[in-house]
Order: sequence, then C-alpha cells, then structure tokens
Amino acid sequence: MRKLLPLLSTNPHGGGRSALTCRFRCGDACFHEVPNTSDNEYVGDVIAGALSRRSALRAAAVVTVASAVGGAVVLGNAPVAEAKQPQEPAGGARGLRFAPVAPNTADQVTVPSGYGQNVVIRWGEPILRGAPAFDSENQTAAAQAGQFGYNNDFLSLLPLRHEPHRQVLVANHEYTDEVLMFRGYDPENPTREQVEIAWAAHGLGVVVVQEEHRTGKLTAVTRHRLNRRLTATSEFELTGPAAGGDLVRTSADPDGRTVLGTLNNCSGGTTPWGTTLHGEENINQYFANGSSATDKRYGVGTGASERKWERFDKRFDLKQEPNEVHRFGWVVELDPYDPESTPRKRTALGRFKHEAAQPRLTEDGRPVIYMGDDERFDYLYKFVSSKRMKKGSSRAAHAHNLTLLDEGTLYVAKFTGDSPAAEIDGTGTLPSDGEFDGSGVWIPLATAGPDGAVSHVPGMTAEEVYVFTRLAGDKVGATKMDRPEDVEPSPRTGRVYVALTNNTKRGTTGNAPADEANPRNANKHGHVLELSEHGDDPSSDGFAWRLFLVAGDPADPATYFAGFPKEKVSPISCPDNVAFDPHGNLWISTDGNQLGSHDGLFGVATRGERRGELKQFLTVPTGAETCGPLVQDRRVLVSVQHPGEVDGASVEKPASVWPDGPGKIVRPAVVSVWREDGRDIGV
Ligand code: FEO
Ligand code: CA
Ligand code: CA
Repeated sequence: MRKLLPLLSTNPHGGGRSALTCRFRCGDACFHEVPNTSDNEYVGDVIAGALSRRSALRAAAVVTVASAVGGAVVLGNAPVAEAKQPQEPAGGARGLRFAPVAPNTADQVTVPSGYGQNVVIRWGEPILRGAPAFDSENQTAAAQAGQFGYNNDFLSLLPLRHEPHRQVLVANHEYTDEVLMFRGYDPENPTREQVEIAWAAHGLGVVVVQEEHRTGKLTAVTRHRLNRRLTATSEFELTGPAAGGDLVRTSADPDGRTVLGTLNNCSGGTTPWGTTLHGEENINQYFANGSSATDKRYGVGTGASERKWERFDKRFDLKQEPNEVHRFGWVVELDPYDPESTPRKRTALGRFKHEAAQPRLTEDGRPVIYMGDDERFDYLYKFVSSKRMKKGSSRAAHAHNLTLLDEGTLYVAKFTGDSPAAEIDGTGTLPSDGEFDGSGVWIPLATAGPDGAVSHVPGMTAEEVYVFTRLAGDKVGATKMDRPEDVEPSPRTGRVYVALTNNTKRGTTGNAPADEANPRNANKHGHVLELSEHGDDPSSDGFAWRLFLVAGDPADPATYFAGFPKEKVSPISCPDNVAFDPHGNLWISTDGNQLGSHDGLFGVATRGERRGELKQFLTVPTGAETCGPLVQDRRVLVSVQHPGEVDGASVEKPASVWPDGPGKIVRPAVVSVWREDGRDIGV
C-alpha cells in the first residue's frame, strides 16, 4: 500500500518545503530525531536556556504581519497575489539597480521589468553524441545517461579560451522525484528500468553553452567534445587520507579506492585552478538496513530505502555492504576541461552532509575551502591546504594543482558571543550592544600529509575523523548551527558569508537553546552570518563574526538587515545558496519560503551606505527551489530545481506546467536572465 505522506502543515522541516521535497531530497531528515544529540557545550548557560524556551512560546504567537515592497503586495499566511512589479525607481547599489520583484505565487520565473529570460537546458535534453531526444513516456536509462540530468542544483560557468562566446556549464543533479518523472510510479515496486533511469539522472553534467551576442541569453551546444555526464554508476577515485582504509573497502572494491557514482550533489564551488567542487549531501537516504553500528549519526534508516535501490544493487544494502555508505558524503573534484579524467572524492575535506565547498587562497597561494554540514545543529568547517597553487596553464602546474586538496588540516568552527547570555533570549531581540556578534576559533580535527594523517581528536584515529567527521566535531565542542548551507568568501573583502537556512527545533525540549550565533528559537526563517578571519588570513585559527541578516518579514521585529532601514528591503525566508556578483554584492537564493511566496533570488550590498539593502530579483515556479545562482556582468543564471514538487502531485496530476505549458511534463531546468536592452545586470 502506498505510504501516506504527512501534510504540509505538519512538516517539521521548518521551511515551506512540501513533504514530497523532504521525502525525495533529504530522505525525510526532519521527520527523524535530530541526529546531533552530543552534549558538547552550548554558547549560553542554563538561565539563558530557560529564558529562550519561554521566549520561543512568545515568538510562536507572533503572527506574520503585512509587509510592503514598494507598496505592491501584502504578505500574510494566505496565498499571495500574482506577481506585480512595484512602481519604484530602480535605485540601489551598483549591480542591484532593478525594481524588486514582489513576493508572488506565479507558476513561472518572474523577473524585474526590462529583463528577459530563456531556458538554457532542461532535464532530458540530449547533450552527448547519440543521445535521443527526450520522450518522457518512453524514457530509458541509456537515453538518460546521454541527456541532462534531473534536479539541477549547483552551477558553474568556466571560460572556454579558444572558442569565442562560449563557456563550460557544470551542473549538479542532486536527486530524482520519481512520482514526477514516471507515469503510474509505484513507490513500493519500482521497476529496474525506473531505478536505472534514476541512477543515470543523478550526478553531474558538463555542457558547453553559447552566448548570444546581443543579450545574456545562453543556449546549450549539444555534442561538444567537453560535454559529459557522470552518474550514480560512473567511476570515481577516492583520494587523500581515508582512501584505501578499512572503513571504505567493500567486496567489489577491496582496495577502497574506486567508487561507483556520486549522489545527492547539492551545491559546490569553482576553484582558481579551473576545477569544480561538488558536495555530496543527503547520502543516507539511498541506503537500506542501517544500524547504530553503521550509522554514526549520519541518519541511515533501519529498513528499506525510499527508492528501493537495494533490490537492484546489493551495495545499497548495508547488511551486505556496511562500508558502501562511507564512500559517499565527500566533496568531489571534477576537471571539466578533461573529459577523460576520473573525478576524485577528496577525503581530506571530511565526510558529512556537504552542502557546498567554496575556496579562497591564502596570500602565499594555499587554498582554503569553506564548507557547511546541512543538518539542524551541525557544524561549519574549513580545510586549509598545506600546498601552494601553481600558476600558469602548463600540464605540470595543472597536475600539481590536482593534488592540493589531499594534504592539509581540517577544522571545525566554535562561535562565542560577546553579549551576556541572558540578553540572548531566543526572540531575535538585539542585545544591548546592538549586534549579534562575537569571536570564534577554528578547532583542528586532523592533518593529512605526504606520509599519512594525524588525528587531533582524542580517542579517534585520523581515519575515523575523516569518515565520521560529525563525531569528531561533537568531541571537540563545535557550535551547533541552524543548518549551515552554502558558504561564500567575498572576492572583494575576504569576509565569509554563511547561509543558515532554518532550525525550528532550536530551543525545543532536549535541543540546544538559542545562542548569539543562532539567536532565535524555533528559527523558521534562517539567517546569514558574516565571518572575518583574523588578519584577513583565511588560514587563521581565529575569527570575528556578526550576523549580517536575520531573515523574515521585515515587519517582524525579530529580523535584521545589517542595520539598513527595514521598510526598504524585500522579505526573505530560508537563505540557502549564496554567490557574489562582479560588483561585490551578495546574491542569496532561498529554499522553503515561509512567508507565503514562492522561493526567490535576492541581491544585497555588503559594503557602503547601502549595506543590508536586500532586493528580490526573481521568483521561481510552483513547488520549485532557487538553486545555483551565478551572476556575471550580463546574466544571472539559476537552477530551477524540483518545479511542481507539491504534496499529492504526480505526472498525472501536475502542480506546475513549467517550463513548457499545459500537457507537457514538468521539467527542472537552468534559466538565464538578462537585460533586454543588452546592458549589464543592475547598473
Ligand atoms: Fe541540498 Fe542543503 O540543500
Ligand atoms: Ca553582541
Ligand atoms: Ca541547498
């Protein structure tokens, strides 16, 4: 019998995501107990905790009140009106001079007036030689392996030097929505073909794109020699300190160095040496028959998996292959310029639910990679390489740079507030010093070198630190955060921005109360933290931090926009992926808007007198999440992920008709947005 889905109103996820999203994207992570039950020290004390819990009750009673963006739309808990463009002049920081898009529930990508858009590539479009045109009624695994994958997330655009007006687009394909892909899908009895199509629809995609001369429009170049698909069955190499160890060996791979597939690639990063990084996030959901002995706080279920892959490949059954799950949950490095290369899973960066991996170089050229573990009460990490990047395009330099992420030290963050704990009451009320801010330290977990790895965590071997990194964070007393998602260092200032999506469990019985870095109990709208490394040195072991945004309806007193007048900003909820534009503005996409609008993309100045002026640039169709934002001078690129993912929806009963209209199957796709007059974005 088909399992009944929980209703949206009972969704404990805290964001506005449908239960369908929870089920297919993260394996219902939020319906399970909080996995971090470690008793490492909270920032705050017992009195503050008691205050926080009382305050949470008060906060829960606050009804979201009206907010006007340019006087256009009033928000409440009821569905909001269709999109209207507020009539206000397009002022703002350079790069953000557009009339903000009002919150709305239109089943389309809504962009500011004067901007155009096009679908760059959709799920199922052929990109490899010999791949057939998409036919949703007759899809095969072989066809899918040569076509663009499902649920595009992270996006990167890399230059293509000898081909003018072309770039290399790299995309993550995070997960599959079987009920929206297959007519008559029976979740209790998936067919082998359906499962193999899902394997081929996961992974990574590389596709060259052509720029239109007059606008920022991009179109896919099919059959380019660099086009590539990597799926759940492609070969990946495990490298670094955990590779070859006892914890990653399986019967099919007794050497522990060759993994088939990458799974649940969420966001990622682009390195200065021309490779892309891809975070393997909610990997637990693909494995069946876990146990306390095999789980180690990663959330693997004890029974059958959602997609029943274990029926078709025994490596997904942990009773038969207990180590297979240890071979996922890493950061993957791909060389998109070399279509023959084997992508690597970099174990020196630790194993957890990697949202993304964003690099910044030290002054002497060593890469530092910032990473979030997207789970309620999990941690923020960084990896500092011990090797310097070589400049230039020689083969030797490139070969050297492909070893940078195998040696260095992995750290986890601990945050301390500078205000009295009693002033952090869980409501979001600013403390008397006027800011949620303080200091922090990076605690070393393990160091990998040419002769092996050393653990810095008492009671854990280096191999254990790398494979069970969450447990290492617990032991050293890392700060439990409100779902650390994307992390992005500003290329202009070096300050690092951390999106903390939400955490409705904050301050509830048995869970950590609010602290200054996570100052709201039952935090349903999330916040964005700004971190400054000591001496502006990304390899520093200490930092200062402050909250840049505390998200929500600006009319809600528990919000903060870097001190900018709140009547002049757009409402925002559940910040997720972040990116910088060429002017140094931060762009933020959302996942699970709790204010009644569809998800969107926002730009905000981080410097100058307009610091904190947040403006909505676009919204996405029904059921979709805005992912992979990427802002170039002439275009804004977004991944429209899981359109139509609404409880009760199916191929037969679609909730969205995007992008191709009624009668056509809903398809995740990449969209480019550009100025109709051909000028740069937001100037
Ligand atoms: Fe795949 Fe954390 O979002
Ligand atoms: Ca303070
Ligand atoms: Ca995300």
